[in-house]
Amino acid sequence: MDLCIIGSGYVGLVSGACFAEVGHHVVCVDNDPRKVEMLQRGEIPIYEPGLEDIVHRNVSAKRLRFTTSTEDGVDSSQIVFIAVPTPPQPDGSVDLSFIERVAREIAGVLKPGEYRVVVDKSTVPVKTGEKVADTIKRYNKQATFDVVSNPEFLREGCAVSDLMNPDRVVIGSSSQKATDLMKQVYEPFRAPILVTDVNSAELIKHAANSFLSLKISYINAVSAICEASGADVELVADGIGTDRRIGRNFLNAGLGYGGSCFPKDVKAFIAISKQLGVPFHLLEEVEKINGQMLTRFIDKVRSKLWVLQDKKIAVWGMTFKPDTDDVRNSVAIELINRLVAEGAQVSAYDPKGAEKAVQWKLIDSAKVRIVANPLEAVQDAEALLLATEWSEFAAQDLEEVRKRMHTPLVFDGRNLFDPQMMADLGFEYHAVGRPGR
Ligand code: UDX
Repeated sequence: MDLCIIGSGYVGLVSGACFAEVGHHVVCVDNDPRKVEMLQRGEIPIYEPGLEDIVHRNVSAKRLRFTTSTEDGVDSSQIVFIAVPTPPQPDGSVDLSFIERVAREIAGVLKPGEYRVVVDKSTVPVKTGEKVADTIKRYNKQATFDVVSNPEFLREGCAVSDLMNPDRVVIGSSSQKATDLMKQVYEPFRAPILVTDVNSAELIKHAANSFLSLKISYINAVSAICEASGADVELVADGIGTDRRIGRNFLNAGLGYGGSCFPKDVKAFIAISKQLGVPFHLLEEVEKINGQMLTRFIDKVRSKLWVLQDKKIAVWGMTFKPDTDDVRNSVAIELINRLVAEGAQVSAYDPKGAEKAVQWKLIDSAKVRIVANPLEAVQDAEALLLATEWSEFAAQDLEEVRKRMHTPLVFDGRNLFDPQMMADLGFEYHAVGRPGR
């Protein structure tokens, strides 16, 4: 099929590449000419395992191309996906101005009698589909189109494999014609397809991400009870996670959730529920618990090092989770900044995220020593703080780490290491919600 994706960010670019990979002809539109030129040169603006190969392969096969022209994209496609950002506003509600602008742009280029399906793939508040349809109608009285909601559930770091093997595909549509075309798009993925009305599809995305955030905050709250009582949160998570109704996934206690989705989507769902007159107070508690995790962690560090001023502290990890270079809304970055604010001398290492953390000025490179490997970070350190569970950290020679440190004190914010092993290696080891050995 001929598909157009407007917006070449994480969701747009990976979706476009994967649609091409299964045989569709895809044109990706972005209004940033530099990004489009980069993509045309074969350079990928984000790090995502497997993405570069898929993009190159499909560009060579002439199934994938990039342009700045919405008209070109809409003209040459039966289905137009909107995958532009929906950032949060200061009050937590969703800024829909990019979606609105794209709706107007699409209206401006739709030709009379040429039917198009306009698909919202961005995460948007319930009832946005109705507004997109109204906007297109207002700006183009002759347009023949249907608006469909098709939320994307991909995770950063495994976006390609999530997209190629989705748990489910949600199609929110009130038109049989549009539903049939959407089913054809997804047919090659062989995933269960759930057809709903547009409002329900939109709600599914916010409800799913808020539920996952709730799961994380739940286990994090349990981790505090474990610390107060001497129980081990990993064992508790195994014990409750083996109940098939609960499941073990997303029960990893630690520094809390970050990234571009969960913090934003929980805030948005709180704002949406308030706007609809049915405030979802449980989610306010989810946010509160999440915020407390970093404070509790730093309190723990302070309880050992007392004053952080001038203390040499190594931080492993800057990205909001492993296998991505994304440092936006990363708890690890927040940790580094809070240590620096207290006057600590921080040496930080991350396998992929350091460059962007500096480039986007998320950390002050004059105040943080960015180093080239994990061992350099721990040289003479009085404490090592692990903030992101990269497998590279699990594979370190821990004997060597201990030898290099001034004091073998480790605070593991992601429960990556085994407490007994760390004790046997001679570390004083503190995890989240686990008793020391
Ligand atoms: C998430 C959703 O999983 C995805 O479906 C949606 O489309 C976008 O948001 P992503 O933000 O890429 O994806 O990351 P995810 O792997 O879900 O992790 C989010 C955050 O939760 C990370 O900071 C991670 O460290 C944290 N997390 C996750 C925990 O603290 N504990 C867990 O058990 C799982």
